[in-house]
Amino acid sequence: MVLSWPYENVDDRLFIDGVSSMDIARRYGTPVYVYSENLIRKQFKKLNEKVRKYYPKTRLLYAAKANTNINILNILREEGAEIDAVSPGEVFLSLAAGYKPSQILFTGTSVSYNELIYLLDSKVRINVDSHSQLERILDIEVPELISIRINPEFGAGHHEHAITAGPNVKFGIWDQDSVDVYNRALKAGVKNFGIQMHIGSGIFDVGSYLKASTRLLEIAKKIHDKTGISFDFIDLGGGIGVPYKLEDDQINLDDFMERLFGHIKNKLNEYNLGSPEIWFEPGRFFVAEAGIILTRVTTVKMTPYKTWVGVDAGFNTLIRPALYGSYHEIITASKLGGKLKKYDVYGPLCESGDVFAHDRDIPEVSEGSLLAIMNSGAYGYSMSSQYNSRPRASEVVVKDGKDYLIRERENFEDLLKGQIMI
Ligand code: LLP
Repeated sequence: MVLSWPYENVDDRLFIDGVSSMDIARRYGTPVYVYSENLIRKQFKKLNEKVRKYYPKTRLLYAAKANTNINILNILREEGAEIDAVSPGEVFLSLAAGYKPSQILFTGTSVSYNELIYLLDSKVRINVDSHSQLERILDIEVPELISIRINPEFGAGHHEHAITAGPNVKFGIWDQDSVDVYNRALKAGVKNFGIQMHIGSGIFDVGSYLKASTRLLEIAKKIHDKTGISFDFIDLGGGIGVPYKLEDDQINLDDFMERLFGHIKNKLNEYNLGSPEIWFEPGRFFVAEAGIILTRVTTVKMTPYKTWVGVDAGFNTLIRPALYGSYHEIITASKLGGKLKKYDVYGPLCESGDVFAHDRDIPEVSEGSLLAIMNSGAYGYSMSSQYNSRPRASEVVVKDGKDYLIRERENFEDLLKGQIMI
């Protein structure tokens, strides 16, 4: 079993940055999300260093939807991240974590009038998704800066639901409307402009970004030529993939960024677009690998077909396998070196889809074993629910051999919270 830092095999037990997974499970109960602060910092530094190497005027916005625990937001703020927020709630949390309004770019879709009032009052930057959204913004107040989300007619991603551009996708403004939208904002008195795309999630090939950014920059040129607008920033969105299987390779960031920025610099020159800032909005890249879910085996049962391993986490805890068929590595944290056995790992929810893995080779387990579901730092807690009236799990940060509770486990009272008996 190949584990890489901060995950270590110590006497056949999983340790995370020097902390025993068994101790965490005992102390905080299971299921529990565990995040390595040092790996989050390392991921940010790694990407930041690479993008700046090829284009110094780059900003990294953390796509908060991946994990909005205020401590995670804070760690990334300390590293120099800004924020991509997609709901007023994410704006609220980011402000609470100490981000300045000018460090937050809101990219919403189907945004209501009341939400726009909150966003404009908060003074965050707004990335507009439709003509009508722009009209409603201008009706409330004319902001200094407007960015427009463009649908570059091409998307990519690990699953159909994670492709966020192209003809069948709801997001963004299309080429044919783009000049009108910028003109409208310009005439209303908007002074500064950005342009944005986000083509999808879980992308490994630079070719998808090259193709989409080619279209984005063509559209940017047309807007520039027809309106005279210069862009302060060009935002290429998020979506950089991370390996979900232990044997999979990391993206070669040097190769990726060299090719992407080489292309962008050529196009900026060719189209006379000056040297705007280039922004990225990764979520998963910063936090996915830094998080795991520890879950206890409650049941081992044999059927004529399979050996089923029941755990106390379900798709209420991590929905990615059920929703996208996503692969998450599962290891036996309490006995890493056990003999491999084929198991189907399932959760406690009353749905047949509540399964984390089918026919998976996992070091042998028995009831009471502790399992770790890897790569759960992104879209784990943030997509969790109370389905089947199961209180949400707690979250813990580990750093340099110490652990810190960063969110309490919910209890039954939380299931009643807000309900009104009539
Ligand atoms: N920017 C925008 C506007 C987005 O909508 C997203 C993700 C991101 C950035 C960050 O994407 P990332 O770098 O994390 O791939 N819940 C799914 C992914 C869908 C995310 C949707 N938007 C998952 O668990 O894979």
